[in-house]
Amino acid sequence: MLISRRAFTSGAAAVVGSAAMAAPSVAPRRRRAGYGAAVTWFDLQRDVEFAASVVEHCTQIVPVYELKWGTLRPRRDVFDFDLGDKLLGFATENQMTMRGHNLVWYYGLPEWTKEISSAVEAERELVKHIDAVVSHYRGRLTSWDVVNEPIPDDVARPSDRRECLWSRFLGQRYIEIAYRAAAAADPQARLVLNEYDVEFADNPFPIKRAALKQLAFGLLDAGAPLHVIGLQCHLNGGEPIDIEGLSRFVEELRLAGLDVYVTELDVNDQGLPAPMDERDAIVARHANDALSAITASGPLDNLLTWGLSDRHSWISQMFPRHDGLPNRPLPLDADLRPKALMSTLDRFTHAAA
Ligand code: G3I
Repeated sequence: MLISRRAFTSGAAAVVGSAAMAAPSVAPRRRRAGYGAAVTWFDLQRDVEFAASVVEHCTQIVPVYELKWGTLRPRRDVFDFDLGDKLLGFATENQMTMRGHNLVWYYGLPEWTKEISSAVEAERELVKHIDAVVSHYRGRLTSWDVVNEPIPDDVARPSDRRECLWSRFLGQRYIEIAYRAAAAADPQARLVLNEYDVEFADNPFPIKRAALKQLAFGLLDAGAPLHVIGLQCHLNGGEPIDIEGLSRFVEELRLAGLDVYVTELDVNDQGLPAPMDERDAIVARHANDALSAITASGPLDNLLTWGLSDRHSWISQMFPRHDGLPNRPLPLDADLRPKALMSTLDRFTHAAA
């Protein structure tokens, strides 16, 4: 799917052609280096104005669900790359990159995985999935969220780990198995450990941060090919950011040789004041607090929001406001107009030359 420049500048992008179409006759608009967003093929297809705004504002996309087990593996003997390939085609045709999300997650496993009944079988299926999926996209994705959300929400100690299908059969060694399988399948891809709720000041969030650091350093000590910590940054507008603690945490990760990405930024405004301008300002300030802490020790070369426009956000579905007003968690409003949050992001992702 290619967004033609003429249609694009009119804002009513005419989705044209297929991968066979030539690149736009003129260079695409200025793009922010490093800034990206999560998208679904479904939204890009049915909302061409939204697709045009993705091309305008992003240099990278990440699939919301098209590379997850539930989509890729409808049956045990099936790998369905159709939607993932379509999204990669959209990115490539519009001079964007794409990152992978996610290879191992406690959530969203297809029903057939309940047939897995031994450690040998679990390791075989886990490695087979990672090898097949990462090999399919070898050299074409910038990075992979290999293990997603391994720390439990009710974390009480830094040693706490979330249980999942894989840990039930393999113990926590499933994590190292996953990173080694991903590295073997694509030695170029940056391999990410992705987590949420490590940005805030009040317990249990500092404990979750400590658990994530303990897990990451343990993987490095074991020689596992872990390259990046992904901070999802699903920021709750009512939770104060631990600016000092988060800044120190990121610096410690970087000193250990790890890179840091912001992978899923949005700001949950469910409990924030109703007036739009006031709410937008709080959202932008919250993101600024987190991004300032994260970049105190160095810049971000990957910063993605979980969605681009309030028109398509999981926050509206999961955290609707009690006053019935539409949520405003993302950089563009529902009419695709930049908000204060987009100006905040501009300060952390330099514009392309
Ligand atoms: O499967 C249907 C597909 O057939 C249909 O065409 C499409 C139309 O939109 O919807 C598809 O399904 C839903 C999908 O979201 C797309 O909207 C799935 O049923 C639904 O389970 C899926 O939920 C996603 C969820 O992860 C589980 O994959 C949410 O949108 C997505 O926001 C959420 O994202 C997670 C990250 O992966 C990890 N970090 C937290 C974040 C928020 O929970």
